[in-house]
Amino acid sequence: MAFDFSSRHVFVAGGSSGINFGIAQAFACAGANVSLISRSADKVAAAAAQIQSLGVQALGMAADVRQPEALQGAFAAAAERFGPIDVLVSGAAGNFLARALDMSPNAFKTVVDIDLLGSFNVARLAHPHLRKPGASIVQISAGQSFTPTPYQAHVCAAKAGVDMLTRVLAQEWGAEGIRINSIVPGPIADTEGLKRLAPTDGTLDAMAQRVPLKRLGRIEDIARMAMVLASDWGSYVTGAVIPVDGGLALTGPRDFTAAAEASRQARV
Ligand code: COA
Ligand code: NAP
Repeated sequence: MAFDFSSRHVFVAGGSSGINFGIAQAFACAGANVSLISRSADKVAAAAAQIQSLGVQALGMAADVRQPEALQGAFAAAAERFGPIDVLVSGAAGNFLARALDMSPNAFKTVVDIDLLGSFNVARLAHPHLRKPGASIVQISAGQSFTPTPYQAHVCAAKAGVDMLTRVLAQEWGAEGIRINSIVPGPIADTEGLKRLAPTDGTLDAMAQRVPLKRLGRIEDIARMAMVLASDWGSYVTGAVIPVDGGLALTGPRDFTAAAEASRQARV
């Protein structure tokens, strides 16, 4: 399926690496102009340069999704450069393995602030700059949203909130012609997120074997779904929470004890 996003404006929050960067690259390959934000000025500048080498325009800006003023400035600059935002991808996130009793209140709050409050900030502050009608918001969630998972209390709470935000905003903003959906990626190969949950070859193999399709996901698996949702093919889809996970959501909570021990030993 060939998508055409020529001259559309795609804004990716948390877009300097991993899955979100792969999504940005896929839209760029389909002709979109791309705005990216993440915390690290160097990382986001390098990511924007890579996007530009694909023959489209790109703007990389340092902004933390926990800081509304920085975000507001980034959205204004992006809209000034490329016009109203057609596609907003919201995927900034943080994760580490820890039992609830091994998390300080600030550790829990940090992940909730990035993943949940950050997603609210991104959607809320992008709203004045979204194309109306026609904009599509794609939130990048995680299976922890619906699978209660030990060592992941912070992420479970935050991503469940992200998906509820998707459902509420779909109703509040639908009349303006704005659609919003969540993609729930499974374990995606060669990403920071998976490295944190499966830090050794053994834990990685176990993860792949648990997936009903018996393989890890690829970044392009997620990018393709983002493009379907953002294109006319997804024009009657809003408020949906869509697993793209090889069936992992069907299998219940995972046991991260071995992975947590491996991460702990790597840190000491
Ligand atoms: N176990 C328990 N607590 C941890 C922890 C761990 N493995 N890692 C961090 N924390 C705690 C810190 O101790 C701190 O709490 P404290 O102030 O009570 O000591 C709190 O979390 C915040 O840590 P800090 O490093 O100051 O936060 P940050 O905002 O600089 O970074 C993180 C956020 C911790 C999520 C960091 O891992 C990050 O930047 N992640 C982005 C990349 C990523 O996670 N990618 C995968 C996406 S799924
Ligand atoms: P990643 O490469 O670490 O991507 C996270 C991105 O967010 C980076 O660009 C990071 O850049 C940015 N970021 C982090 N904190 C930020 C903040 N406070 N403000 C702005 N930007 C911030 O991880 P990934 O594994 O690709 O994960 C991407 C998304 O997919 C996340 O939402 C994650 O929950 C979801 N997911 C991943 C998997 C997986 O298998 N990898 C599975 C399920 C869901 P900076 O460091 O420069 O800020």
